[in-house]
Amino acid sequence: MKVGEITMSSMLQATYRVVHGPCNRSVLLALLAVLLLAMQPSYAAVDPGQLVYQQHCAECHEGNVPRAPHNILFRMSQPEDILTALNEGVMKEQAAKLSAAERVLVANYLAGSGGKSPADPSPLMCGADKPISTSAKSSIVSWGAGERNHRFIDADTAGLSRDNVSDLQLKWVFDFPGATRARSQPTLYGDVIYVGSQHGVVYAIDLETGCVHWTFKADAEVRSAISVAPPSGDAPLTLYFGDLSGNVYSVNGLDGQLAWRTHLNDHPNAIITGSPRLYDGRLFVPMSSREWATAADPNYACCTFRGGITAFSAADGKMLWKNFSIPEEPVDTGKRNPLDVPIVAPSGAPVWNSPTVDAERGLLYVGTGESYSSPAHRNSDAVLAFAIDTGELVWSKQLTANDAWNMSCFIGSSYNCPEENGPDMDIGAPPVLISLKSGKDILVVGQKNGFVYGMDPEKKGEIIWSRKVGLGGYAGGIHWGLATDGETVYAPNADTDFIGRFDAERFPGVFALDAETGKQLWYTRAEEDCEDHEKPACDAGISAAATAVPGLVFAGGFDGQLRAYDSETGKVLWAYQTNRSFTSVAGREAHGGSIESDGPVAYQGHLLVNSGYLFGDRLPGNVLLNFALPDRDAKEAR
Ligand code: HEC
Repeated sequence: MKVGEITMSSMLQATYRVVHGPCNRSVLLALLAVLLLAMQPSYAAVDPGQLVYQQHCAECHEGNVPRAPHNILFRMSQPEDILTALNEGVMKEQAAKLSAAERVLVANYLAGSGGKSPADPSPLMCGADKPISTSAKSSIVSWGAGERNHRFIDADTAGLSRDNVSDLQLKWVFDFPGATRARSQPTLYGDVIYVGSQHGVVYAIDLETGCVHWTFKADAEVRSAISVAPPSGDAPLTLYFGDLSGNVYSVNGLDGQLAWRTHLNDHPNAIITGSPRLYDGRLFVPMSSREWATAADPNYACCTFRGGITAFSAADGKMLWKNFSIPEEPVDTGKRNPLDVPIVAPSGAPVWNSPTVDAERGLLYVGTGESYSSPAHRNSDAVLAFAIDTGELVWSKQLTANDAWNMSCFIGSSYNCPEENGPDMDIGAPPVLISLKSGKDILVVGQKNGFVYGMDPEKKGEIIWSRKVGLGGYAGGIHWGLATDGETVYAPNADTDFIGRFDAERFPGVFALDAETGKQLWYTRAEEDCEDHEKPACDAGISAAATAVPGLVFAGGFDGQLRAYDSETGKVLWAYQTNRSFTSVAGREAHGGSIESDGPVAYQGHLLVNSGYLFGDRLPGNVLLNFALPDRDAKEAR
């Protein structure tokens, strides 16, 4: 194929979009660029990868689709990662029409010169004189720091308090080589940190030095936290996690050897984002999907995925039960999209979060996301209660009705956009189960629309109180996780102005609410922290989960700011800007960025946090930071 021909077809394509598509600035710029290129006397200067990009990718990657990274951010990526996204990742459908050569061209073009592979990606390994201990005094074994997802770490385990938090200093930096995001929240057993990564490598890292005991390679990104089962009887220290291809793994915590692996075996688009919940010898794995993105292809019959939970035996990986958030099977609705492709429903209601255990009532609680196709289902944007033993859906309480949405709603050829067209108000954060002083139990739930609810677990989730703390939006409102000390609920709020769709006053920051009544106790606004006032670095929104210890709350923002708040007054007692460059323990240049999705972890006088999150307009980065008290304080804290 001659380059000139590609230029002509791209020109026609761009012209077509201006005439028929949404006439926005980026399309005009794209047209201008193509025209300028066409006018060049020599075609040698045209990067053929750029032409592929203009034709197949630019529509979404110029800042107009909120969740799609802006093309500029891809310069932080490795070409291999872009290829993975096209070949087997979230962009599979968008790249379906590209030849292998075109994929390589566009990957190299987008990564640009910044996408050089690191010289040596290997971590700093620990010596043989540093074995992993088989018994530990303390541990944090799950994402929610306990079965009820309180994200509360007791004083003995945390070793951090109001009195010493201002002494925290950066101790070491661990880098995920070549990664553009870090979002597997660290868990711990003794002196070992377990964490997953974008390239599917799971690491066992020494808390003191940052050296690595062993690594395990999963097939795809491990975004969930690693669930830890301490040794008991004959059973060794064992780890459990899921990847973005729907695989579930069990690995020996001492040496990283695979014990078993299995698969959700459900839908080709199924992914695991929420952390598997280990409880009573069983592993409860939440089911989410990337079909919301696949649906952007107007030729795709949208949609067939249903969220839910799959339960496995922790000992051998045998599936015990699987149940869906939507009981009815998706069927052809008889309706067609403008390309005459069937519309299939009901679909969606994915589970993004780690299930909450109600041992007394024998239930697992999860929150669900939106429906993908129309009509929206009654169990989307809902809190669901599944029976622990059988998987039966015992009750459902919907918080936002008629929410059907997928990525096609943002693009010119929005043929698969359901008639409801949003508002995409998932419950991304798990419900939190609290036993109040009065003896009553309450479920506290945060939603992307900026609401926090108190619900009655005795009455199928009947609403006891509700409080709107923010405006909400695509990244929340409350997005990934509340924290509570059992009396006060700490709600991080993002309130990010993504595309001006929700235009009113915003309240980014942290709210403290009384768990029993929902009364607001304090609010501390997250102030923008940057010199040039350019988005996205200036976005102060807090979307990542918060974490509480006695007297303190920790939360990190899109702009990379990590803060410790006084839990009684909301006063900021310590802060650190993680959006900067570092040298890692392996001696490499590394960078922090947005703190998003997973939250900080306080442990034995240390504070661990991931920084960097290439997604939408967020800031890429590839570090796990370890802050610690100076040695003397740390000894006293133990
Ligand atoms: C219809 C809109 C749309 C089109 C067309 C599109 N993308 Fe995307 N892309 C997205 C969205 C939305 C995401 C974020 C999805 C996610 O991370 O769940 C994304 C994510 C990505 C990512 C990051 C994947 C990851 O795992 O983080 C890469 C790389 C990418 N796109 C490349 C491309 C390339 C190259 C093309 C053209 C061949 C393309 N995209 C076409 C919407 C689109």
